[in-house]
Amino acid sequence: MARAMKVAIVDDEQDMRQSISQWLALSGFDTEAFSSAEEALKTIGADYPGVVVSDIKMPGMDGMSFLKRLMSLDSGLPVIMITGHGDVPMAVEAMRVGAFDFLEKPFNPDRMTELAKRASQNRRMTLDNRALRKELSDGSTIMKKLIGASPAMERLREDILDLGQADGHVLIDGETGTGKTLVAHALHAVGPRAGKKFAVISCAAYAEDMLAARLFGPIADGARLPLAEEARGGTLVLEDVEALSQPLQARLLTFINDQGTPAETRIIAICNDHEQGRTVEDALRPDLYYRLAALKIVLPPLRTRGEDILTLFTRLAEQFSEEYGCEAPQVTAQEAAQLLQAPWPGNVRQLINVAERAVLQNRRGSGSIASLLMAENEEAGPVMTTEGKPLKDYVESFEKMLIDNTMRRHKGSIANVMEELCLPRRTLNEKMAKYGLQRSDYL
Ligand SMILES: Nc1ncnc2c1ncn2[C@@H]1O[C@H](COP(=O)(O)OP(=O)(O)OP(=O)(O)O)[C@@H](O)[C@H]1O
Ligand SMILES: [Mg+2]
Repeated sequence: MARAMKVAIVDDEQDMRQSISQWLALSGFDTEAFSSAEEALKTIGADYPGVVVSDIKMPGMDGMSFLKRLMSLDSGLPVIMITGHGDVPMAVEAMRVGAFDFLEKPFNPDRMTELAKRASQNRRMTLDNRALRKELSDGSTIMKKLIGASPAMERLREDILDLGQADGHVLIDGETGTGKTLVAHALHAVGPRAGKKFAVISCAAYAEDMLAARLFGPIADGARLPLAEEARGGTLVLEDVEALSQPLQARLLTFINDQGTPAETRIIAICNDHEQGRTVEDALRPDLYYRLAALKIVLPPLRTRGEDILTLFTRLAEQFSEEYGCEAPQVTAQEAAQLLQAPWPGNVRQLINVAERAVLQNRRGSGSIASLLMAENEEAGPVMTTEGKPLKDYVESFEKMLIDNTMRRHKGSIANVMEELCLPRRTLNEKMAKYGLQRSDYL
C-alpha cells in the first residue's frame, strides 16, 4: 500500500511524547519524536513527507513561534496544535496563523488518530500536486508521463485531449492511486487555461467553516484570496468532493450558476467514493452533480488493465534504476504472472512503490519480487484473483514485456535478441510489429 506518512511529535514532556508516538505508531503512522521545536526544525523543512503534532507550551521556542516558523517554511504543512484545557484564545490564534487543527488537553486518543489521518491525507494530496506542478508545466510533458498502451489508457489519452479543450466542468472518479490527480493536471495543462492558475483543495480535510472560508472567503487578515477568487479564469480542483456538506454544496451551486456559460473558472471535481462505500451521485445534490459531471472521466482500477501492469512495472523499474545508478531487476515468468494477478488495491501508486523497492532490493542483491508482493498482499488482506481475463491476454502481455526487456538489454541488437529468445528473425519481426515495438527506440 501507499507508504505510511510521517508524524513528527514535538513535546517537551517525555511521557506525553511517548504516549502520542506509541498511539499513532499503533495506528500505522511512521512517527518521530522531538523534545523541542529547535530539535524538530533540524529535520522538518519544506516538503516534509508528513504532518506535525506540537504542544503549545514549551520552554525555548514555544509552539506558536514554531508554528509560525513552519508556516514560513511550508504554508501547506498540516500542523496539529495541542493546547491547554480551556485556552480558547490560544487555539483561535493558532488557527489564524495556519494550524491545521487543535486538540485541547486532555484529549481522546481516537480523536488524535482521526485528526492525524485527515491531516496526512491532506498532506499527501498537497505533495502529489506539488510534485506534478514542478514536473509538468506543459501538456506534452504530462501526456508523456502517462504510461500504458491498454485500450483503456488510449481512450484516456483521447479523453484528456478532447475534454482539455472543452468548457464544461469535469468529474473524475476512480479508486485511490489510479491517476485522478495526474489527470486533473493533464486536463489543465493541455487546454486553453494552461497558463492560468491551478488551485487545489481537499473538501475532506477541513471542518465546514474553514473550508467555506478557504473556498469563498473571507480569509483572516487578507492573507490570501479565497480559492474561488484565486482560480478565476483557471481551474479549481475540488478533491474528495463527496465530502462537501449540504450548505457548501448549495454555495458551490450558486457560484457555478453565477458564472454563466462558458464558465470562467473550470471546476474539476475528484471523488474517491469507493473508499466511503457510497457513490458521489448519492453524496451530491442532483442539480450540483449534473453540473459537475457535465464531463466525466472514470479511471479503471489497475487490476483490470493487465498489460499496463507489466509495462508500468518495467518502465518504472528502469526509471528507479537510473535514479539509483544500478541494474534494473529482470522479471521472471513467474514474477510476471504474480504481478498480473496481484489485487493492487493501491493501484499505480502501489505499483510505483513496489517497483522502487524491487530496484533497491536488487541493488542489495537480496529478496525477490515475489516476496515483495507477498508482503503487500498480507497488508491488503487475502489475495483475490483478478476479474476473469482470458489467458491469451496474459500470454500476450508477457510476451511483449519479454521482447521489450530483451531488446532493451541488448540495445536493439536483433541478432542478440534472436539468439537469447531462440526466435527466427521473421517471427521476432512479426511479434514486434504486433506489439508496436520499434527497434529504433532501443538503439
Ligand atoms: N498511467 C500512469 N502512468 C504513469 N504514472 C501514473 C499513471 N497513473 C498514475 N500514475 C502515477 O501514480 C501515482 C498516483 O496517481 P494519482 O496521485 O494521480 O492518483 P489518485 O487517483 O489521485 O490517488 P488518490 O485517490 O489517492 O488521491 C502518481 O505518482 C502518478 O503520477
Ligand atoms: Mg489524488
